[in-house]
Amino acid sequence: MREPHWRTIIEPFRVKTVEPLGFTTREERERVLQDASYNLFNVPADKVLIDLLTDSGTSAMSSEQWAAIMRGDESYAGAKSFFVFEKAVRGLTGYKHVLPVHQGRAAERILMSVAAGPGKTILSNSHFDTTRANVEASGATALDLPVPEALDFEHPGAFKGDIDTRALEKKIKELGSARVPMIIMTLTNNSLGGQPVSMRNLRETAEIARHYRVPLILDVARFAENAYFIKRREHGYSSRPVAEIARELFSYGDGCMMSAKKDALVNIGGFLALNDDQWVSKAREALILGEGFPTYGGLAGRDLEAMARGLEEILDERYLSYRLRSVEYLGDGLRKAGVPIVEPPGGHAVYVNAKKFLPHIAAAGFPGQALACELYLTAGIRGVEIGSLMFGHGAGKDFAPARMELVRLAIPRRVYTQSHIDFVIEVFEDVAKRKDSIRPLRLLDGATRLRHFTAKLMPEPV
Ligand code: F0G
Repeated sequence: MREPHWRTIIEPFRVKTVEPLGFTTREERERVLQDASYNLFNVPADKVLIDLLTDSGTSAMSSEQWAAIMRGDESYAGAKSFFVFEKAVRGLTGYKHVLPVHQGRAAERILMSVAAGPGKTILSNSHFDTTRANVEASGATALDLPVPEALDFEHPGAFKGDIDTRALEKKIKELGSARVPMIIMTLTNNSLGGQPVSMRNLRETAEIARHYRVPLILDVARFAENAYFIKRREHGYSSRPVAEIARELFSYGDGCMMSAKKDALVNIGGFLALNDDQWVSKAREALILGEGFPTYGGLAGRDLEAMARGLEEILDERYLSYRLRSVEYLGDGLRKAGVPIVEPPGGHAVYVNAKKFLPHIAAAGFPGQALACELYLTAGIRGVEIGSLMFGHGAGKDFAPARMELVRLAIPRRVYTQSHIDFVIEVFEDVAKRKDSIRPLRLLDGATRLRHFTAKLMPEPV
């Protein structure tokens, strides 16, 4: 008999260790928010009920990962745990050299110090903020070339993470290969809604890269989610094992950078994996200078064990199917409540379109931040504004808005249950009913760079 198709989304794990949630009263939250100057980065985590600030470093580890942690070999050089880790990364990616780093941005900094620099331009489907910052810190230019539909939030495209290959080729011709040290493909595309890249687009990008002899580097923070989207959405992949799809993804690159805090299911860690011998010898020098000896790279042996195990667990198709379904379910619930979101929901997060949801708040009143604060006030839910507070400039007369006003609800891996997701939907239903009463915010002071971390705001008086 065939298995029935069950409608209920169940977590494909059971819970062994629990942590209490931070329940607060409305009065408490009002005080906390005031003390935090309406900046949710200043809110103590124990005053947050459901924390959707990020999916980075917030995963729950499995009993096998905790067991692997006990096996961690803490020798300074040549630790057994390094070889376990190296084997896992090589087995997955096929790349020759594996350098552990403490998190994704360390891999970015090292690679940019090796290959970028003044006069160079890095082309990408979209650089993540830290990637862009590291490219720019080297003196190079970071240029995003997403497909046009990626910027249309209502477009229901299956692979809105793709790069515009025509624009890519044109730009390489215009600049000349010598000025383009690499192409970076971010899987999935976090900056534009957690959207996946198709295998076809990656293959075409690799062909262009080979033709013009430009290395293709993959930013694989969420590679498994991307691989599962391919399985579900791309012709010819529905019956292929996701591990095989992932290996095909890696086969088109010349190397990768990974923030293991996402799809390696750990709380800290990352790596840089490369085929090129010359790049790697320079990268190893930079690694020793800034991170540590090449067999631990800024981590403990136990962290390497947990990453190795996490890279295996993330490819469990039951987990991935639940993961994408659960995020999609949140998107469905918000849509039904009349909350506009970036379509379709991403792999790790749902992005609420605050500009459309709160048309009475102009960009200068920070609609994303106003909504994020309202969610906190209503029920202790913490999301993150991705809008004019994060990417805009100036204030008052000099205000320059961002391209979008979003609130990202990122779902930590294996942490919250479907009832927590139902609760978030219920809170949005409530907020949607009285959204017209949400007030704009005024920026009191804000550093110019990365101001969203430190900015102080207050609600505009009625
Ligand atoms: N690349 C992507 C696509 C990312 O999303 C991140 C981090 C990084 C690189 C940098 O990695 O944090 O380990 O240094 N994204 C987090 C987020 C911070 O909330 O989306 P890291």
